[in-house]
Order: sequence, then C-alpha cells, then structure tokens
Amino acid sequence: MALLEVRGLTKVFGRLVALGGVDLTVGENEFHGLIGPNGSGKSTLMKCVAGAELPTQGTIRFAGCDITAATPVGRARAGLSLKFQITSVLPALTVYDNVLLALQAQSSIASLIFSRTRGSLHEHVMHLLAQFHLAQRCWEPAAALSHGHQQWLEIAMTLACKPHLLLLDEPTAGMSLEERRITGELLMPIKRHCSLVIVEHDLDFIRNICDVLTVLDQGKVIDSGTVGHIQSSRKVQEVYLIRV
Ligand SMILES: Nc1ncnc2c1ncn2[C@@H]1O[C@H](COP(=O)(O)OP(=O)(O)OP(=O)(O)O)[C@@H](O)[C@H]1O
Ligand SMILES: [Mg+2]
Repeated sequence: MALLEVRGLTKVFGRLVALGGVDLTVGENEFHGLIGPNGSGKSTLMKCVAGAELPTQGTIRFAGCDITAATPVGRARAGLSLKFQITSVLPALTVYDNVLLALQAQSSIASLIFSRTRGSLHEHVMHLLAQFHLAQRCWEPAAALSHGHQQWLEIAMTLACKPHLLLLDEPTAGMSLEERRITGELLMPIKRHCSLVIVEHDLDFIRNICDVLTVLDQGKVIDSGTVGHIQSSRKVQEVYLIRV
C-alpha cells in the first residue's frame, strides 16, 4: 500500500484551474520530486496535501486513511509535515526555541505533560539541531543565521514531530551551490524513517536525491516515473526545453 495516494485532485481559484485532476502516489521511504514551470501548481498540490488549502475535488489518502477534509493539525498528528515556500522561522526567537515551539505546536498537551520529560524534549531538540549543523548556534536568535542555515532550521522544525511524510517546497531556494550539496546530504538519512515530496527548480539537485519524479504543467501531470524515465520523456522535454 502506498503511503500517499492523491486521486483526481482539482483546485480552482475563481476562474483559474490551478490543479486539474492530479494523481500522485508516494511509497514508503520514497523521495519524490515535483517539478514543473512557474505556476504549474506544485505549491498548490503541496498545500492541499498538508491541509493549508482544501481541494475543490478529488481525494487524498494518507497511510490508508482518507484525509481529504482533515484539518492541518489532524494531518500533522497523522504524520504529515510541510515546509512552505516562504520561510516561517520566528526570527526573534532562539534557534533552540524555534524547534521547541514546532515540537510543542504539534503535540497534544497530554503527550507533552505525561509522556515526555523536559530532559527528553531537550535531547530531542539538540539531536535535531546537531543533525542540521546548528547545535553550536542554538542560543542565537534565528535572525542571526544566514538564509541557508535558516532553511536548515526550518527543515529541522518540520522533522520535530517525527513525520512519516515530509513535504518541502523549494528548500534550497537562495542557497549557494555548496549549501545545496550539503542540504542533499542532510536529507538522505531521513529516508530511513520518512518519505519526502520535494519541489525544486534545481533539476540537478532533485535528480540526485529523488527516486521518482512527477512533472506538472498547467495543473496537470504530464509524466511521472524514475529519473531515467523522466530524462527520456518526450512529453517532459516538450514542456521544459531544457535538460532534466
Ligand atoms: N491563493 C490563491 N489565489 C489565487 N490564485 C492562486 C492562489 N494560489 C495559487 N494561485 C495560482 O495558481 C497557479 C498555481 O500556483 P502555484 O503557486 O501552485 O504554482 P507553482 O508551481 O508552485 O509555481 P512556482 O514555481 O512559481 O512556485 C498560479 O497561476 C497561481 O497564480
Ligand atoms: Mg511554488
């Protein structure tokens, strides 16, 4: 059984059909890249899966449950986590508190009081920060971090609740080449316990880390398959006119 099954997803804004019947299947421990030109519907699809937008039509099943109408918090508790295209780090808070807040925002009060001691919360936060090379800077305000480090902090925040599916919308936007390379390395270990849907314009980056690619154009899937399949897809070449 697939972890995520999106069927016939349609999202209409006024007269604009942002998504016109999209199917997307993501397996367990799969890294799935979403690519397509500007305005093709990538972010809208991510938001519909995370619950930040409700689809006009279609269904979304996650881990065997229909979550089409579930609230964003309900989806987060079911194991979904989204990093939006626009950064949502709180700049005045410390790096540490940003992760702690992300953890607390998605946990029930009962689970925070009864099942986690303050010590284990602290360990979990520090472990995540270490994983993303941020432990040394944990007491600095998030505003003091470079853009690339803020992106890493945000990925750490999305992982705070140990999601089964992580949705990342353009996590390497504005990063240097070196930061992109490191981001790929930081993401790979997540595969052991989590699937990933990632939107990126950097095709080299996405080709290196993803198992499967889905290509959107004007709200429709034009092709989906392994990186090799997409690289040789005539339909994709017609839309892109650049090397995938
Ligand atoms: N809240 C909204 N209200 C109206 N139109 C919207 C809204 N959100 C997205 N759109 C429109 O839907 C279409 C798809 O937008 P979307 O942001 O999903 O594209 P995208 O593939 O993520 O583009 P980009 O690569 O530029 O991030 C665009 O034409 C966009 O203007
Ligand atoms: Mg977008």
